[in-house]
Amino acid sequence: MKKLMRSFMSETTCHGFSHIYRSKSLFMKGFWTISLLVLMLTFWFSVLTLFAEFLERKIISQTTTERADMTGLQIPSLIICNRNFFSMKKLQSGAGPERETQGLNPCQASHSPSDFGLDSNASSYLMLMAGNPILAKTNLSEEDQAVLRQADLAVRNVLWQRNLTLSQLINALSYTCEELIASCMHNFNYLKGSECCKYYVHTETQLGLCHMYVSRPESRQVLNGEYMGVSLYLSVPEDDVPDLSRHILDMTKVTKFGLQMTVTSNLTYPNLAVVSQGTTVTPGAHTSIALQLTEINEEKVKTPIDVWEPPCIPAHSLDFRQDVGAFLDNNINCFDGIILRCFHEMCGCALYGMRLEDTPMCTLNETRDCYRLLFLELSKFMNTNAFDNLPAGDEDEVVLEKARQCIVYVHSECQNRRVCQHSEYDYTVTTSPIHPKIMDVIVQDLNIENASKVASVTVFFSTMDYTLIKLSRMSQEEVISDLGGYMGLCLGSSIITWIEIVIYKVTLIFTFFKAVTKVFLCKLQHSELESSFLKARNLQQNAQP
Ligand SMILES: *[C@@H]1O[C@H](CO)[C@@H](O)[C@H](O)[C@H]1NC(C)=O
Ligand SMILES: *[C@@H]1O[C@H](CO)[C@@H](O)[C@H](O)[C@H]1NC(C)=O
Ligand SMILES: *[C@@H]1O[C@H](CO)[C@@H](O)[C@H](O)[C@H]1NC(C)=O
Ligand SMILES: *[C@@H]1O[C@H](CO)[C@@H](O)[C@H](O)[C@H]1NC(C)=O
Ligand SMILES: *[C@@H]1O[C@H](CO)[C@@H](O)[C@H](O)[C@H]1NC(C)=O
Ligand SMILES: *[C@@H]1O[C@H](CO)[C@@H](O)[C@H](O)[C@H]1NC(C)=O
Repeated sequence: MKKLMRSFMSETTCHGFSHIYRSKSLFMKGFWTISLLVLMLTFWFSVLTLFAEFLERKIISQTTTERADMTGLQIPSLIICNRNFFSMKKLQSGAGPERETQGLNPCQASHSPSDFGLDSNASSYLMLMAGNPILAKTNLSEEDQAVLRQADLAVRNVLWQRNLTLSQLINALSYTCEELIASCMHNFNYLKGSECCKYYVHTETQLGLCHMYVSRPESRQVLNGEYMGVSLYLSVPEDDVPDLSRHILDMTKVTKFGLQMTVTSNLTYPNLAVVSQGTTVTPGAHTSIALQLTEINEEKVKTPIDVWEPPCIPAHSLDFRQDVGAFLDNNINCFDGIILRCFHEMCGCALYGMRLEDTPMCTLNETRDCYRLLFLELSKFMNTNAFDNLPAGDEDEVVLEKARQCIVYVHSECQNRRVCQHSEYDYTVTTSPIHPKIMDVIVQDLNIENASKVASVTVFFSTMDYTLIKLSRMSQEEVISDLGGYMGLCLGSSIITWIEIVIYKVTLIFTFFKAVTKVFLCKLQHSELESSFLKARNLQQNAQP
């Protein structure tokens, strides 16, 4: 046995042991033994930590700065909205010629273009129907309620007379793309307004009708510089802002006016994004929006051992124009998805900018009640007091419970569904006035109406560098390589050592077993001899007397 031990100590690939064995002096032997013990403890501690980390399945993020390759960077989606929602002229004068060409209202051709007859009270009411219910005045007096009823009647009247749906009416009162975009430059293509508008789709959002350029992979900026991205000349209509009614709207929430430009990724749900972010475009000035891209890659979050994790969703399969349900059902739009789905679930009707399927439009009363209840539950769910100042009412426990279940369900469905790759855009905005002389030339060249002012907007990447965030979970290969690292570093060993140890153990056990059997057999023989000897002695003793 000693021989075996000796051969193991001297021959093992774990060279710590051979040092102990080969050291001549007792001091060195002691030193090596202690060092080896400490290293072994370190090793086991590290290995246990490693396995604990591996089993935790935590998501690790790694941030690097990258430089775009020759194909450049993809230009984000751009959304142009009107903060005033409607055109004053259209409210007053009824049909503009654009409506028939846009095909929003085919029946209109048979009507003579007469007044819509919507006064400021009615248009503010319509603005509420189109926009976010947050804009509504909360503490309504008797007079306000009368105004509201009057406005409701006026809007219904117009809808009935003209045979329009609510969204048709809202769209008819908003600016068309051709009215807003005078010219644009995408990818060095200089286009006139009507041609630009082929790239823009009209989108019903919570800011009324907006026009959106949907970011596509083929539209890219390849060089840095202010005019290398998208340039737009917008015609901002002057003196066309509808009057707002203080009886209907909360005036503190409608302070922004004019055209607004929102920059988002093409995976962000635009209908709510326009409310939360955007830059107001100043007429007669140049607005430059310098972008900074952050790309988030979540492809490696699911490793082969994360069987419970759904596979990531490829970005190109998501398009809000084709399938809103799928577009919302992932962790990017989780919050918007909760609002949309649970609103539907609770009310059974839709808002102008928040339609999931073909459901009827909500009345203002329905909207307000559902919104309030939904946000009441949401604030409980998110543990915030953000919505505490919502007007109190007699809450129906059954409806609240329904909302609660819906929120929890939708949240659990969407929070773990990752999109493989998505982008976030940060931007800085600078505005500088355009010289009046240059302005005159531009106005002439672009053939813009007298009553409008020109606003120039450029959207571009100020640098071709971008931030890449890679999210991942620890894979089994990483564990193995880390294990190898610790083994080599602390013990100077490898898998071969472990095989050696196993062989040594087996041999040891075998030898030990053999030795024990031998001793046992010896003893057995010995005791047999002894007992026979005793027997013989007894016999002798018995025989003597
Ligand atoms: C809106 O309603 C208020 C209260 O009835 C009224 O004083 C006001 O004149 C109305 N506005 C218009 C433009 O009719
Ligand atoms: C609501 O309005 C009434 C008068 O119209 C006023 O007396 C009351 O204090 C207001 N309540 C709140 C919470 O503002
Ligand atoms: C109203 O419009 C719908 C389609 O939008 C049409 O089917 C219907 O006949 C119209 N009604 C009248 C009275 O014109
Ligand atoms: C959005 O951008 C991604 C990334 O380039 C692309 O794969 C996808 O097709 C785009 N979506 C649409 C609807 O164009
Ligand atoms: C909306 O609710 C108010 C009371 O909160 C009521 O007076 C009004 O008639 C309702 N309007 C409609 C159209 O149901
Ligand atoms: C614009 O204004 C000029 C002078 O102010 C006038 O001659 C011209 O006819 C106007 N054009 C339009 C389209 O109104």
